Amino acid sequence: MKGIFPIDKFQGLKTPFYYYDAGLLRDTLAAIKAETAKYNKFCVHYAVKANANPKVLGIIRESGLGADCVSGGEIKAAIKAGFPASKIVYAGVGKTDWEINLGLDYDIFCFNVESLPELEVINELAAAKGKIARVAFRINPDVGAHTHANITTGLAENKFGISMADMDRVIDRALEMNNVKFVGLHFHIGSQILDMGDFIALCNRVNELQEKLFARQIIVEHINVGGGLGIDYSHPNRQPIPNFAEYFLTYHKHLRLRPQQTLHFELGRSVVGQCGSLITRVIYVKQGTNKQFAIVDGGMTDLIRPALYQAYHKIENISSDEAVETYDVVGPICESSDVFGKAIDLNRVKRGDLIALRSAGAYGEIMASGYNCRELPLGYTSDELV
Ligand code: LLP
Repeated sequence: MKGIFPIDKFQGLKTPFYYYDAGLLRDTLAAIKAETAKYNKFCVHYAVKANANPKVLGIIRESGLGADCVSGGEIKAAIKAGFPASKIVYAGVGKTDWEINLGLDYDIFCFNVESLPELEVINELAAAKGKIARVAFRINPDVGAHTHANITTGLAENKFGISMADMDRVIDRALEMNNVKFVGLHFHIGSQILDMGDFIALCNRVNELQEKLFARQIIVEHINVGGGLGIDYSHPNRQPIPNFAEYFLTYHKHLRLRPQQTLHFELGRSVVGQCGSLITRVIYVKQGTNKQFAIVDGGMTDLIRPALYQAYHKIENISSDEAVETYDVVGPICESSDVFGKAIDLNRVKRGDLIALRSAGAYGEIMASGYNCRELPLGYTSDELV
């Protein structure tokens, strides 16, 4: 065991693979439960897009969270893992007919509708089944978030949601329809947000929009503020559990709810990010012109976040205690962007050592691809490796 890793158990496993610390995941879920219990009517849905490994989903479902899905495939994965349909929300700008029908057949909690044409289709498909679909409108709040440009979603320039100027029009249209019931408003401003000021800006916007609805005697059943709480990528050992206390308190303090309203959250990264690591094996150590490369068998096909978002996942040599040297840690894929880190200090690396890329539980395994005809990495939980 080095640090949090049962490395003796890793020896027979084919690399690269994802390792999930089930204890940490359960502690994280317990922290969410303890914090939300302080407030009436806070409901958390796990954003399945962050990680849909069936074993991980199973542990999250046991904790009682709902599920936030963005595709028919995710709805199927959530149902298979045992999430009750009554706790499934479904967002996405491009819901196809079969996906909407699936949501209708399961009678999910709510469709988060992102356009007027989508509303019309949901109404038609629900009518064909003699059902009434519960809908919330995803409003684009035009609130920026201090995070990577590829993962902000709540600006007017982004493709997501209905513009604030169109809100009244879509609500009016929904109120005329026979097969939808307008039950809520939905928002999401982005991901990996650590500045609570961004969430406060969202609260202020939601309060403003709610005032407009109250003036029309409309009180929706629920507000859904999406997800976005970030994690500490640089010191995963120091902050393994995100600051849920501060996050939920921020909403409690700044969002004005009516007594009958519930507040929903869709958390992904903050639930699963810290419990996962990509474990990869060193194939070669190569001396370059003025640096040395540690070439590992995992690459951007297994963990794309460094190549796509210039993200850094803390890298550790979990097989060695030897003196530290400096390496560029790179994968085997035929792309120059297949680099996990440059000039990284690691305990001296040799062929066969196991390297851990930390904080990779969210948007890691699920974003893996088969580029270069590679196999997808498998995922193991610590429960299985005892
Ligand atoms: N709700 C909606 C509507 C979303 O679009 C997202 C994430 C979430 C909830 C969950 O957000 P979280 O709590 O995980 O921040 N692949 C990127 C992140 C993309 C996030 C997409 N939407 C990454 O690796 O950083």
